[in-house]
Amino acid sequence: MTISQSVAITVGDEKHTVPEGMTVIQAMWHLGDAMVKNVGCLGGACGACAIICRLPGQMLPKTALACQTMVSEGLNIRFLQGDPSKKEIAPLPAETPSRETVFQYYPETRRCVACQACTSACPQGIDVMVGVREAMIGDLALVAERFTTCVMCGFCAAVCESRIRPHRMGLYARRLAGAFYPKPPTQLDMRIAEISSGQFDREWNDVMQAAQNA
Ligand code: SF4
Ligand code: SF4
Ligand code: FES
Repeated sequence: MTISQSVAITVGDEKHTVPEGMTVIQAMWHLGDAMVKNVGCLGGACGACAIICRLPGQMLPKTALACQTMVSEGLNIRFLQGDPSKKEIAPLPAETPSRETVFQYYPETRRCVACQACTSACPQGIDVMVGVREAMIGDLALVAERFTTCVMCGFCAAVCESRIRPHRMGLYARRLAGAFYPKPPTQLDMRIAEISSGQFDREWNDVMQAAQNA
């Protein structure tokens, strides 16, 4: 039998010992926390589990996603308590959008002073500042592309001294790009062709059989 090693972690101000080899979310479950908030997809896609963490010896903390971060000795963890930045009701325009379309709902975007704090804070490695600058010059298709992997954790807005909401502006740009600069869905077409060719028939039948046997 393999005996797993333990590691000491700190969550908030509380010290705990948990088995190594777990993600931070799994460690919270292990500690008996039901995690009714600060958790969602468990796949690094929803941004609900945003944390600030620091290892011993590190000068500065870094941002991360708890479902994608393994516990390690001395890890200090704080969960971000939600994203308080305001959501705008931003409908799609009737005509081709410009930067003024974005500024109408996110006027603060123009205040960017290029400090790079948002880029440094992004756990997804997005160059958020460049995305904001692209919005300032009106290249909305580029903005949309840049924010494709945004998980809406809100760290970028939380650190912005100019009170810009890059992620919400980026999401709006993604909606605009989808409506006005659509790209052919090549990956989707490829997957549909694979399914149509019968490539997954065996797996599908296994699932259906399992459902009948349940
Ligand atoms: S933190 Fe704010 S001001 Fe600084 S680069 Fe990012 S959007 Fe611009
Ligand atoms: S762009 Fe902002 S909201 Fe999106 S993942 Fe990066 S820090 Fe989080
Ligand atoms: S639970 Fe969704 S990103 Fe971690």
